[in-house]
Amino acid sequence: MKVVSTVKELKALLDSYRSEGKSIALVPTMGALHAGHASLVERAVRENDVAVVSIFVNPTQFNDKNDLKNYPRTLEADCALLERVGASIAFAPSVEEMYPSEDTRQFSFEPLDTVMEGACRPGHFNGVAQIVSKLFYAVEPDVAYFGEKDFQQLAIIREMVRQLALPVEIAGCPIVREKDGLAMSSRNTLLSAEERERALAISRTLFSSLDYAKEHSLAETKAFVEECIDNTAGLDLEYFQIVDGNSLQEIKEWGDSSYVVGCIALFCGKIRLIDNIKYKED
Ligand code: PAJ
Repeated sequence: MKVVSTVKELKALLDSYRSEGKSIALVPTMGALHAGHASLVERAVRENDVAVVSIFVNPTQFNDKNDLKNYPRTLEADCALLERVGASIAFAPSVEEMYPSEDTRQFSFEPLDTVMEGACRPGHFNGVAQIVSKLFYAVEPDVAYFGEKDFQQLAIIREMVRQLALPVEIAGCPIVREKDGLAMSSRNTLLSAEERERALAISRTLFSSLDYAKEHSLAETKAFVEECIDNTAGLDLEYFQIVDGNSLQEIKEWGDSSYVVGCIALFCGKIRLIDNIKYKED
């Protein structure tokens, strides 16, 4: 595996692969890699000749300075994991490399970006679109892999690709969970042992709500999840919304859509966690 830090080196490498007719995949990440990331990379390796993984903690998508400062950075371990799963290139640029000057681009993905994470983290998706579009321009991948863990992000990336008419296929990958159900996240390493225990209530509640939903209305199911979380000490619910999986807009009845997803965001101590569950899929 090659580790490169400049767009110029990256492009030179990719040009040589492309001239040999090789297909190129991109997996964008912010590092602190875990088995969730690895599942995306393994699929990219399986389905393409060359898998590029970017590792870049993107400052423009953080609306909380402390979150950016505390975000785990483990480049050496990340490269060891990527080598193990067969990535061809790790692209780990500096902030100056990706933002030689301020990126003043303003994206709008309405109404996808005005709800949930978009409403709670102003500017977050604009920053995500800034960096992911730059990565797409640098790598020009045939296909890029994103996790359903960040359900809204995946929908927004698909919309960005449509708006910019980029020739890249977007592949969505299922959430990878710890054995006990907690959705894997780089931020999990920041939880204390006690918080880690409390965080279990998130996936437990979402999974029990699947059963509950079979016998109850959408409004009752929403209230069930909200109550379970509110009743768990140490968890501070930000939102739980049951939405149409394509428009991301809240629905009122189970029958309102054939693709129904429940999305949750909460604070476990100081650490913000998200998760989601599918009640119905097309
Ligand atoms: P990051 O949080 O590092 O996630 C990188 C990719 O891994 C995302 O597509 C995310 O959805 C996926 N992922 C994370 N945890 C996962 C899990 N438990 N199961 C499946 N997939 C998982 O998302 C970002 O970085 C950034 O916003 C980025 C797109 C790289 C732009 O900076």
